[in-house]
Amino acid sequence: MTHLSGPARATYVRNMFARIARRYDVMNRLMSAGQDGAWRRAVIEAAALRAGARILDVATGTGDMLIEALKRHPGASAVGSDFTLEMMQAGQDKAGAQRIRWCAADALHLPFTDGSFDAVTSGFGVRNFIDRMAAFREQWRVLKPGGRVVCLEISKPPRNLLRPFFLLYFNHLVPIVGGIISGQRDAYRYLPQSVNEFLTPDELKAAMEHAGLREVRYRRLMLGTVAIHTGIR
Ligand SMILES: C[S@@+](CC[C@H](N)C(=O)[O-])C[C@H]1O[C@@H](n2cnc3c(N)ncnc32)[C@H](O)[C@@H]1O
Repeated sequence: MTHLSGPARATYVRNMFARIARRYDVMNRLMSAGQDGAWRRAVIEAAALRAGARILDVATGTGDMLIEALKRHPGASAVGSDFTLEMMQAGQDKAGAQRIRWCAADALHLPFTDGSFDAVTSGFGVRNFIDRMAAFREQWRVLKPGGRVVCLEISKPPRNLLRPFFLLYFNHLVPIVGGIISGQRDAYRYLPQSVNEFLTPDELKAAMEHAGLREVRYRRLMLGTVAIHTGIR
């Protein structure tokens, strides 16, 4: 996979998520040791939604981010977009997903008018995009002035004593367990590869600033293996 770039890489990513869609949630819970719910709650908090807010979750997958948003803000209007139909289909019947408006769309070309959302979130999506700057520019464009982008992503932990354990877990254990549960071992080899190739939290912050976002900040969670970035239009 690492040899792929541009549209070929995007096609690889889409096909891979289509294959693992039905097992995606189970693997997420397992790999995050049940912590991903808490991370999503932190994202929704950082989005600072007001009553009746319009929220867009890009690369929404099975919709967990918006299910969390609607739990906390029942009056919000929630749109989830993704380019893998199978992921959204796998999420549609989940409790709390009925109020999500699902939209098939590439994160690099969002089919929404300028300034239409109060917040744009993403969870574990940006790492997969072939052009992250273009994605953040699109997020900036569809946000209302004053609206927030909140991005949840995996990151390589800082150089400390725990780093070798994380790398061992991620590079070796995850592909084995993911392979057994999903039957798609290559998909769970892609995961550590994509994390290894991904931007550091500081680089991601810089990308968001380049896209026009201001007051960009991030916090690291789970011993530095996950980061939440926030920026304002
Ligand atoms: C790791 S999953 C994350 C799903 C969900 N956001 C979550 O928090 O669990 C990555 C998702 O990104 C989507 N994706 C990757 N590249 C995309 C793109 N260019 N446009 C839209 N969706 C994309 C995939 O289809 C997949 O559903």
